[in-house]
Amino acid sequence: MDSPLKGEDIAYFVDNSSPLYISRQRFRDSYNTYTQHPNNVMKLFLDTAIVSDIEDRLPTGLIAGVTTNPTLIKKSEREPWEVYTDIVELGIEDLSIEVNGQDSKELVRNAMTAHGNYGNVATIKLPCTIEGIKACKYLSTIGIRVNMTLVFSESQAILCALANATYISPFIGRMDDNSLSGLSLIRSICTLYRTQQIKTQVLAASVRDVQSVGKAFEYGADICTIPPKVFDSMVSHVLTDQGLEQFNRDFLA
Ligand code: G3P
Repeated sequence: MDSPLKGEDIAYFVDNSSPLYISRQRFRDSYNTYTQHPNNVMKLFLDTAIVSDIEDRLPTGLIAGVTTNPTLIKKSEREPWEVYTDIVELGIEDLSIEVNGQDSKELVRNAMTAHGNYGNVATIKLPCTIEGIKACKYLSTIGIRVNMTLVFSESQAILCALANATYISPFIGRMDDNSLSGLSLIRSICTLYRTQQIKTQVLAASVRDVQSVGKAFEYGADICTIPPKVFDSMVSHVLTDQGLEQFNRDFLA
């Protein structure tokens, strides 16, 4: 069948023979309703550098951003700039790009280059070190979003907040790997930020399972960044499958 896809349309495939189409503008409007609604604080980001993984899940309208790190980029076996360019072209509006550097000056220089290349889509990811915090303070002052990564303690969260970070990324899974409770840290930081009326958002990272997503949001995380596999698993439930099988049988009977 000939595709009626016109230039900017997005196709939702209901099945192989009957796709539905929506204009990119409409898609963007509904996406904005989700990502910018003041009461809708819970957001899901995808944690991946595989562009097709993002593209496949984008039509759900549920992906508010993407996070990457050097290890994810390496796994993609592509140049970082190729990955970032493709993700920006998909229409993602918030992409965490990690920069490195020996000191805050080098971090800022690399951050400015990334921001120059990808504009406001780029959220600069910096390590939670004293040099990273200095760079964060500077970049936040000039209006560039910063995601402070590799956060493992409340004290680090305090310093990141004082440096006006847009996001902090506590690594849940890596804490659990080291016999510490990642979710307890999420709860403590969220309580602290609420008590002190801090604007920095808590972006739960290193999330490896569906249960952690639920708990992180329950404890007050603003965002969970999750691997595509975890995103897919969120909808699955054995009782849904069983119930639907029964309903389909009865519906057709
Ligand atoms: O965003 C950081 C996250 O990707 C790290 O995840 O599973 O390597 O600990 P993981």
